[in-house]
Amino acid sequence: MRINELQSPAAASSWCAQQRASGKSVGFVPTMGALHAGHLSLVERALSENDVACVSVFVNPLQFDEATDLETYPRDWEGDAKRLGSVGCQMVFTGSLAQFFEGELESDGALAPERLLAPGRGALGLEGACRTGHFEGVATIVDRLFEVVHPDRAYFGQKDFQQTLVVEEVARRRGAPQIVVCPISREESGLARSSRNERLRPQERERAVCLSRGLSRASHRWQHGLRDLRSLEAEILAELEVAGVQVEYAAIRERSAWSPESPVEDLHDPVALVAARLGQVRLIDNHLLGEVPPHPASAFKGLEFSSRP
Ligand code: PAF
Repeated sequence: MRINELQSPAAASSWCAQQRASGKSVGFVPTMGALHAGHLSLVERALSENDVACVSVFVNPLQFDEATDLETYPRDWEGDAKRLGSVGCQMVFTGSLAQFFEGELESDGALAPERLLAPGRGALGLEGACRTGHFEGVATIVDRLFEVVHPDRAYFGQKDFQQTLVVEEVARRRGAPQIVVCPISREESGLARSSRNERLRPQERERAVCLSRGLSRASHRWQHGLRDLRSLEAEILAELEVAGVQVEYAAIRERSAWSPESPVEDLHDPVALVAARLGQVRLIDNHLLGEVPPHPASAFKGLEFSSRP
C-alpha cells in the first residue's frame, strides 16, 4: 500500500482521527526530515507496537538558534516519503509554521515569545545553555504535534538525551502520549546517526568518531570502577582533543535526576554527554556509562582497562 503524503496538519489530524475511530492505535515519530536509518528504526519500532505509524516532517524554525543552521538543514521530502513507504509507514505529513499555529502568528510571521512553552527542568544546562531558546521551540512544536496526531505512543531517539526529558515533560503535562525512548543508532564507525552528518566533509566524518570514542573510554573506565566525575570527563576530553574538534561540553549527569550542574552526590546510573563542532557542523552524542560502549576496550591501544584505577 502506498504511503499517504499529507501536506497540512489539518489533513493529518483527520487521517489520525479516522484511525482512532476505527479502533486503531497510532504510533508517531516526529522528525525534521532528511531521514536516515536511525529514523527508520524508530518507525519500525512504532509499527511493531501500534496498528499504524505516522511521521511528521517539519524543519521547525522555533528551535533553531542559528539562522545558517536553519537554512542549511537538509531537506528531502520526496526521498523521505519513499524511505518511509519502504518500511510500511502509513502516513507522513508536513505543514508550514502558519499552518501549525493558524491565526497565532504575529504580523512579522513569528510566534510571540509568550506563546512558547516552558520546557521544564531537562532543558537546564548543557544543550539548553549552549542553544538559547532551543528547547522552548522543541516543547512548543512537540505539544502542537501531539495535539494534531493524538498518538498512543511517540518515539524519540536517545541521541537527543535532553530532548527526551523535555518531551517527557510535555507528555506528562498533557497526560499523553506514552514516550518511547529508543537506543542511539550508530554507523559502523561508532558515529551516532544524525541528519547533520550529511554536511560533514569526508575527513571531518572520520574525525567525528572521536565523540563516540570519548564516550566509550569513559564507559570502560566506569565499568572498571572509576567513579570520579572529573576523571571520567577527562577520558572523553582526551579523545576530543586528539581529534582537534571544538568542544562545547563533555559532561556526566545522573540519568534519572537531571541537574544543570555536575552532580555532587555519588553517581549511580550516569550518562555522559558531549557536544563538539567540526567546521560548520555541530554534533552531539551521549552514552549510558553502564551499558555496552560503542567501541570495545581493544580500540584503545595503550589504555589499561583490565585493572582497577
Ligand atoms: O528531534 C527532532 O528531529 C526535532 O527536535 C523534533 C522532535 C522533531 C521537534 O522538531
